[in-house]
Amino acid sequence: MSVLKSPSESQIQMREMVMPGDTNIHGTIFGGKIMAWIDIAGAMVATKHCNNPVVTANISDIDFISPIKVGHHVIIKASINYAGKSSMVIGVKVESENPYTGKVRTTTKAYLTFVALDEFGKPVAVPKVDPKTEDDKRRFENAKKRKEAKRSLDASLS
Ligand SMILES: CC(C)(COP(=O)(O)OP(=O)(O)OC[C@H]1O[C@@H](n2cnc3c(N)ncnc32)[C@H](O)[C@@H]1OP(=O)(O)O)[C@@H](O)C(=O)NCCC(=O)NCCS
Repeated sequence: MSVLKSPSESQIQMREMVMPGDTNIHGTIFGGKIMAWIDIAGAMVATKHCNNPVVTANISDIDFISPIKVGHHVIIKASINYAGKSSMVIGVKVESENPYTGKVRTTTKAYLTFVALDEFGKPVAVPKVDPKTEDDKRRFENAKKRKEAKRSLDASLS
């Protein structure tokens, strides 16, 4: 497939609120809840980029930077960083917003790989990423480095 698509064509932003049922024993958001939102946001971006169903192949890089309190808002921003033949690397940044003060903090960052599937459930080619902005270009280069680093780590392990 020789189609090129820019990240702006598929990027998304979701907003949630932390409810009491979303919390852990510390009274802040349960990490698994954030991971589910990250997976959903990433899948939406990957699907918009390739216009095919996708599956999550890998979540190898997720950093929890700061907790989020009950009642605070959660802003989930996701965009495609890089595409291989059938795989797509999506970067997701999660921010918290204190609705009483307006203070916004970065809480989580993650990079996920999704694979596009055809009607038989087999990997199918996806459009290449055409990075336009300086951020797009930085994310594109970093995703390639991360992919290469994982490949050489995997190869070095028995
Ligand atoms: C992901 C999956 C479709 C890959 O199938 P496969 O037969 O291994 O396919 P291939 O070896 O041809 O790999 C296809 C692409 O996926 C990439 N890929 C496969 N496994 C990967 C992994 N663990 N991490 C990163 N990329 C991966 C390959 O590098 C390849 O990329 P490219 O086409 O851009 O070069 C298959 O492993 C699968 O169905 N996994 C389960 C998915 C799932 O249930 N997810 C949770 C619910 S959505």
